[in-house]
Amino acid sequence: MIRVGVVGYGYWGPVVARNFQSADGCELAAVSDKNPSAIERARKTYPGIQIASDASEIIQSPRVDAVAVITPVWTHFEFAKAALENGKHVFVEKPFTSTSAQAEKLIELAASKNLRIMVDHTFLFTGAVRKIRQLIDEGVLGKLYYYDSTRVNLGLFQHDVNVVWDLAPHDLSIMNHLIDAQPEAVAATGQSHFNGLEDIAYITVYFKDSIMAHINVNWLSPVKVRTTLIGGEKKMVVWNDLEADEKVKVYDKGVDISSGQGVYDLLVSYRSGDMWSPRVEQVEALKVEANYFAACIQKNEAPFNDGAAGLRVVRLLEAAGQSLKQRGRPVEL
Ligand SMILES: NC(=O)c1ccc[n+]([C@@H]2O[C@H](COP(=O)([O-])OP(=O)(O)OC[C@H]3O[C@@H](n4cnc5c(N)ncnc54)[C@H](O)[C@@H]3O)[C@@H](O)[C@H]2O)c1
Repeated sequence: MIRVGVVGYGYWGPVVARNFQSADGCELAAVSDKNPSAIERARKTYPGIQIASDASEIIQSPRVDAVAVITPVWTHFEFAKAALENGKHVFVEKPFTSTSAQAEKLIELAASKNLRIMVDHTFLFTGAVRKIRQLIDEGVLGKLYYYDSTRVNLGLFQHDVNVVWDLAPHDLSIMNHLIDAQPEAVAATGQSHFNGLEDIAYITVYFKDSIMAHINVNWLSPVKVRTTLIGGEKKMVVWNDLEADEKVKVYDKGVDISSGQGVYDLLVSYRSGDMWSPRVEQVEALKVEANYFAACIQKNEAPFNDGAAGLRVVRLLEAAGQSLKQRGRPVEL
């Protein structure tokens, strides 16, 4: 049984704690938060476990095997490093760290101690993303052309990170998981209207073989939208995460090109076939992820959402930040 200590019991911490409590091969052993009201909530929900206002009590506890870091991003490195130094496996929130140098240090530290790092890219464990990955693996979509995601809503404004660091880690991790190619360059534009932190941004990622990704994140949208289009040579997918049923729709639509004699003789025919909605497993993604975390530790295997996967996202966020400052000049990776 992997005994998990959760550091950070604000908005997301209770969700993570609940899932570790119910996961196979795991139990919730301890919770820490520096905020007294969070401590009170944790104590009421889990009367039998260790509750501490000082995170180091949990990080150093011999009764904890793994530490889940569910605090603001600027604290991830400090807590994850201390946990690894104390021989604990770590589960770290997205985005993994504030800088790629920090991520590299944690990966090195974990490797030197044969400890696991898992970065909470929760969406990778949703039924929808697992179904889309399956469609790609089975060749249903054919060669990928693009990934185009819209993740907009009103707020929640964060005080420490801009909308790119808050919302885009979801899309960047999904994009990395679905596209079997390395990103080559990132261009990002955005604007801040209130506190110096961008509240709206458009990120474009260029890959080899003409694959392109575009991500729109926005805290100033009057409506919530969570829609991703994935264009492939054979089929195209529309994933609307706000749909209760039929989240994923596969369209047999596309273009078939044949060229005639000269460059002006391009013959384009449009294909407009059936649409169907594959069955998507309705499970809580974090539960699947918590089970997988325990299994990876028990089998001594690196998870696919390991430190390296977290680092890839942080590198893209850094490149997007550089490009934002230069009004969209592409930054090579
Ligand atoms: N995977 C997801 O879908 C998802 C969803 C929401 C948030 N998150 C991530 O979770 C993390 C936390 O976000 P949140 O929305 O819960 O933030 P939050 O501000 O609601 O909660 C953070 C908690 O950490 C506590 N904390 C801060 N410093 C601490 C310290 N030194 N010792 C102990 N406790 C400390 C705070 O008191 C607070 O209760 C962020 O990295 C965020 O990106 C991920």
